[in-house]
Amino acid sequence: MYSMKFSILTLFPAMFESLLSESILKRAQENKHIEFELYDIRDFTTDKHRRVDHPPYGGGAGMLLACQPLFDCIEAVKKKAKKSHAVVFFTPQGKRLEQIDVEKFSEKYDEYILVCGHYEGIDQRVRDSLVDYEVSIGDFVLTGGELAAAVFSDAVSRLVPGVLGKQESFERESFSEILGRKREYPQYTRPENFRGMIVPEVLLSGHHQKILDWQNNKLT
Ligand code: ADE
Repeated sequence: MYSMKFSILTLFPAMFESLLSESILKRAQENKHIEFELYDIRDFTTDKHRRVDHPPYGGGAGMLLACQPLFDCIEAVKKKAKKSHAVVFFTPQGKRLEQIDVEKFSEKYDEYILVCGHYEGIDQRVRDSLVDYEVSIGDFVLTGGELAAAVFSDAVSRLVPGVLGKQESFERESFSEILGRKREYPQYTRPENFRGMIVPEVLLSGHHQKILDWQNNKLT
């Protein structure tokens, strides 16, 4: 059955609709290589006004996602999760995600429970007691964790066996081990001459070793 599951905990589940219903991730779900389940954190609040946030103790700008809805939501998802799972929280304070981390994540667990924060963040007690990994997708600040969770699940999914076809192989791509973790070489397709811009001659030579040497020289 499915080799990888992503359970996404968010206040805005609709943000994932188009991402999951197009292209490679759509095909991979249909072929049962990956599975997504979305949870609306607000559905777990016990507050009669469906409130999920409060101002931080000690003052400061903005609101924090409170413990109760997050604890109840994460615990409910963990209860029905596969045996091998990890809870990931997205925050600019987390470890910056690199391809080598993506490779490890794609092999380490069968399910990821992805927690998307909003407002100014979440109550520290959730992070201390329920979160296994804190991940940042770069040194900039997003309005919420949704885009980071989308980046994480997309990058991990494409390394799950069967998700990419032969045509979309990930062996010789940017940051792969085989390319020394460097950025990929330039590529060209037909025509050979477009508006006077011509394809490097070596690529048309059919000389496999020379082509490999040229490509290796072009890694950055
Ligand atoms: N939430 C807000 N900014 C973020 C970032 N850069 N990475 C991960 N999660 C975030």
